[in-house]
Amino acid sequence: MSTSVTATQQATLDALISTLGSDGVLPASEVAQRQSSWIDPAPLQALTLLRPRTTAEVAAALAICHAAHQPVIVYGGGTNLVRATESTPGDILLSLERMAGIIDIDAANRTMTVQAGAPLQRVQEAAAAADLFFPLDLAARGSATIGGCIAMNAGGVRVLRYGVMRELVLGLEAVRAEGTVLAGLNHMLKNNAGYDLKQLFIGSEGTLGVVTQAVLRLFPAPRTTSTALLGMDEFAQVVELLHLLQRDLGGALATFEVMWNDYYRLTTTPPAPARPPLSQEYAYYVLVETLGGDEQNDRRHFERALDHAAHNGLFDDAVVAGSERQRAELWRVREDSEQIEHQHHLAFGYDVSLPIGEMEEYVADVLSGIGLHFGADARCWVYGHLGDGNLHINVWAPQLEPGDAGRVAAIVYGPLRLARGSISAEHGIGLDKKAYLALSRTPEEIATMRLLKRTLDPHNILNPGKLFDLEETTSP
Ligand code: LAC
Ligand code: ZN
Repeated sequence: MSTSVTATQQATLDALISTLGSDGVLPASEVAQRQSSWIDPAPLQALTLLRPRTTAEVAAALAICHAAHQPVIVYGGGTNLVRATESTPGDILLSLERMAGIIDIDAANRTMTVQAGAPLQRVQEAAAAADLFFPLDLAARGSATIGGCIAMNAGGVRVLRYGVMRELVLGLEAVRAEGTVLAGLNHMLKNNAGYDLKQLFIGSEGTLGVVTQAVLRLFPAPRTTSTALLGMDEFAQVVELLHLLQRDLGGALATFEVMWNDYYRLTTTPPAPARPPLSQEYAYYVLVETLGGDEQNDRRHFERALDHAAHNGLFDDAVVAGSERQRAELWRVREDSEQIEHQHHLAFGYDVSLPIGEMEEYVADVLSGIGLHFGADARCWVYGHLGDGNLHINVWAPQLEPGDAGRVAAIVYGPLRLARGSISAEHGIGLDKKAYLALSRTPEEIATMRLLKRTLDPHNILNPGKLFDLEETTSP
């Protein structure tokens, strides 16, 4: 903030002010009044934060920054978990907070056109008000923007049934680094007219273009929700349970979330607000939820499937939510991962995916590795979207410091290679996981990513240094 502004930067700022108006170009001092991200309370740092009102303004601002070789970081809700929008005082932040409207809901076509700055929850509520359903859901729904969910290819708690963001976006309007607008607001499920350019931008973490609008897929609004929490001691029961519920319930199973014992204890023991809905003694807890359209029969089907699972010995105890309040209590146990950071500052977080058949052994390897290296006081919380093969692993030990990231990563990622897994299932790479990208992508794949980046952003102005460096460096 005290960094002095160079003559080139000042010229860029002047050009931006004459294009966006002074209320569209926040001074660094005002930017610093905002928090870096929802997990990092440090002041946000940047030369300025741009607040365009239209796609044309986004394009004009990018043209100015491209000409000046000025780095631009698109800033959404600040809720990503991999430092994907981290900035330095010389960067320009671009916020779509004034482009946050719902443009249109087409009930016949079941699509919604929305500006990228709209928070996820607003999109969910707008769909519900039209008796429709936008299924993407995650704990940060109130802050996370649709543009951020697209840039990070967000996942969340209903992927099992509805897919990740990539599968929920039909069309995109995006602006390339030098200001070219790609008006790809496709509304059809099928459109094979050439390359599917929108997929380039989905999951690109703001490195290939700026998403300004999207056409989202909507679904019929569910009429019924059935939720239960189940406890069991054997991992084989968890896997069998998933398969049985998917078989018995047809396509209705939307959520199959798992918590290992330590995570369940953490979120059901004070100072966490939730009380344990089931005994704290089980090795595994599974939160299941179905969404359906038959008010007469869905609950009966759900209970019959649970009876079938009980008969097959697939869980040892269960609680079925009998009201919306009970449902919220069960969800709070799963969603309160903030307890990790609240109670154990500086925990290291991972977001891996691997085949379900490899999970039990993989987690056992990680747990024993953590215990071996960091002692009996070390903690390791494992939970996640088991139905998607996605586990979140958080590690903490009293002696761990930020400089130990590499040691912990070696323990978490080492056995992942054998298990044919990925270092990121849904959170993305950002700065946090950049050093490990080569564990999950081949050199040729990374070279192709660099080729795309150089082609679409020749001056490397869009979120430079995130995901990978343009220059090849040696791996960690
Ligand atoms: C979750 C976030 C951490 O699943 O992805 O709770
Ligand atoms: Zn998750």
